[in-house]
Amino acid sequence: MKSKILTLATVAALFFISSCGNNEKKTEESTEAPQSMVQDAPKDDGQGIGKFKNISLAALDKKLAAQGKVVFEAKCSACHKATDKKVVGPGLLGVTERRQPAWILNMMTNPVEMTQKDPTAKDLLAEHLTQMTFQDVRDDQAKQILEYLRENDNEGKEEAKK
Ligand code: HEC
Repeated sequence: MKSKILTLATVAALFFISSCGNNEKKTEESTEAPQSMVQDAPKDDGQGIGKFKNISLAALDKKLAAQGKVVFEAKCSACHKATDKKVVGPGLLGVTERRQPAWILNMMTNPVEMTQKDPTAKDLLAEHLTQMTFQDVRDDQAKQILEYLRENDNEGKEEAKK
């Protein structure tokens, strides 16, 4: 009888301890301030830092995308694949879904300042530990590459549906 009570007490204690642990974890998470509440940090509008802002996209231009593929292969493919595989930099599949058009254009034309000041690009540098350098991409070429990345993401979606 005594040992039964002891076992029950142990089970109860273990339950108590484990539920305490969970609670602690929850409060830890909920006290973490969302990015927007961090004092003095300017609000991140997701557009990055550089000359591009509020870029609205037209329907996909296949000819522009084909030009972009050529520039991408010449200037970017040493560090990036158009799949989800990392080379030196992140795989660029899905990038047009995770970033705004202006952000991508700014990253192509102003990568160093972006990795110094833009919170998202800063995190990427911390993760990949190599500085993306400016590849002498003209603005019109950056737009061609963006079109190529959009096309690439559309095709990725088609593939997934099959
Ligand atoms: C020397 C290698 C290198 C070259 C060349 C390079 N990149 Fe990068 N790129 C990186 C790295 C590394 C990162 C992550 C940020 C960092 O560490 O600077 C990155 C980040 C990016 C991102 C952000 C990806 C994401 O997930 O948000 C985009 C978009 C990008 N690069 C596009 C390009 C394009 C387009 C070109 C060609 C014009 C190019 N890069 C050339 C190394 C490179």
